[in-house]
Amino acid sequence: MLRVGILTSGGDCQGLNSAIRGVAKALYVRFDSHVEIYGIADGYRGLIEGNARLMNPEDFSGILTLGGTILGTSRQPFKMMRVVEDDSVDKVKNMKENYKKLKLDCLVILGGNGTHKTANLLSQEGLNIVTLPKTIDNDIWGTEMTFGFYSAMNIATNVVDCIHTTATSHGRVFIVEIMGHKVGWLTLYAGVAGGADVILIPEIPYDIDEIADTIQRRNKNGKRFSILAVAEGAISKEEAALSKKQLKAARTLETQYPSISYRIAERLGQKTGQEIRVTVPGHFQRGGSPCPYDRVLSTRFGTAAANLIAEKKFGNMVALQNGAIIPVPLSEVAGKLKRVPLDSEVIRTAREIGISFGDHP
Ligand code: F6P
Repeated sequence: MLRVGILTSGGDCQGLNSAIRGVAKALYVRFDSHVEIYGIADGYRGLIEGNARLMNPEDFSGILTLGGTILGTSRQPFKMMRVVEDDSVDKVKNMKENYKKLKLDCLVILGGNGTHKTANLLSQEGLNIVTLPKTIDNDIWGTEMTFGFYSAMNIATNVVDCIHTTATSHGRVFIVEIMGHKVGWLTLYAGVAGGADVILIPEIPYDIDEIADTIQRRNKNGKRFSILAVAEGAISKEEAALSKKQLKAARTLETQYPSISYRIAERLGQKTGQEIRVTVPGHFQRGGSPCPYDRVLSTRFGTAAANLIAEKKFGNMVALQNGAIIPVPLSEVAGKLKRVPLDSEVIRTAREIGISFGDHP
């Protein structure tokens, strides 16, 4: 009997259930009644606490289009994994023990960057691990695409589209804040797809005067409105010059702003004399049904993971590279971030049609 555990960890995204379904269905087709799948609740927390249940094939039916994750998820920071806190729980020890108690042959982990660091740790600790790259941020190193990204891009683009119509009617300046604290993939793609006039991403520090000039130039050219697509992690050139610690301290003092966009809006308002409105779709971007692209990609990743299990190729993440699904060693993935390259063709394309990144290219 093959015994496979499965868990989803970190922030959720569209396509988690379709990926889980892909893994399970492919395993049942291959191993029929010779496989047992254990669903571990709420990510690594469930593995630490030993909260798992034997799943039935029916559990994986009807979930292709379902948002969220049927297994539940949680954020368990990697940096705390080896730290024994007030509850005296040795998390790594517990996870290893529970893996053994469940008599697992392999653990399938669906997650983003933090999740992959812990997955790599467990793999180094001797557990058989296979992972799938999920996140709306598309920032996992080693894969060209993560599932969740396209669905979130559709939602974020729709927000920019809707803001366009009201901004046009009123002749207003709008900021749409898009998810992504560390990387700007989602903001870049939704910004280009939605026809934003300014795109601010963490990879390109902005100059507030340059943004104000862009808005005023548009006003002079008779454009009645301006739309800014701003990543949660957008950073000014002054902030970029600070150390991580200094930046954190500076931001902590600015409690009057619920998020970065409100600060940018205030400064731009002062510089342009215009009223700037802010829209923050937030977690809306992670919700709902996966788009067809994500359903296909997550199913491909799921079946590829099942194949790796069958071939006992553990310690790998399934990844999309040059159109093919391939295994990439966890040791290569863990701890790296896939940022938007500054020479990205999409950035160049955006610049060529006059979109500003708030910098001086
Ligand atoms: O990593 C996915 C993501 O949605 C980021 O884009 C966002 O910055 C973050 O998670 C939000 O985290 P939380 O769901 O914990 O508020």
